[in-house]
Amino acid sequence: MSRSPAQGESRRKPFLTDIRTLRERARQHLATGVVTATYGGDVEQAIEILQSVLATEIVCVLRYTMHAVAASGISSEGIKTEFAQHAKEEQQHMMAVAERINQLGGKPNFNPEGLATRSASQYAEGENLVDMIRENLVAERIAVDHYRELIRFFGDDDPATRVMLEGILCVEEEHTNDMQDLLKAHQGKPQLS
Ligand SMILES: [Fe+2]
Ligand SMILES: [Fe+2]
Repeated sequence: MSRSPAQGESRRKPFLTDIRTLRERARQHLATGVVTATYGGDVEQAIEILQSVLATEIVCVLRYTMHAVAASGISSEGIKTEFAQHAKEEQQHMMAVAERINQLGGKPNFNPEGLATRSASQYAEGENLVDMIRENLVAERIAVDHYRELIRFFGDDDPATRVMLEGILCVEEEHTNDMQDLLKAHQGKPQLS
């Protein structure tokens, strides 16, 4: 005896949300960007947190750029290149975070006023090459701690933001290693201006 289609269908697992409901929801929320009724977190809070992440990245761009230009001395060429590379990667982070704020319906805050207080890491110039490396190492460690905490915070409420932050964290860990290696290589050497 052949099985009736009705029986076969009843064995199928229902999909999480049927396609018609999804389409209707998508149409209703067309004006609200990616933030739909299924967003698990508090959007306002998420935007506020990301504004501070944005400020942190802007400060990192500025610090590394300044160091890339200011580093001088006999063994500074490799270090300058490293600082410039980091500045470029911090700029990519800055853009990713700004785009995410925009997707969530916020306006990325690039206002230089109050930037230093919105940022988790500091803008420190450093007196010499070793000082600069040390300041960058401190900033990277702060960033790594900050991102680990934020990744746990966003968790399953906002997987897209979490995945973005995880990507940034991997690069910040590499930056930390780079600065540690540079510090080991240059500490104790005569102070280079
Ligand atoms: Fe960064
Ligand atoms: Fe970094």
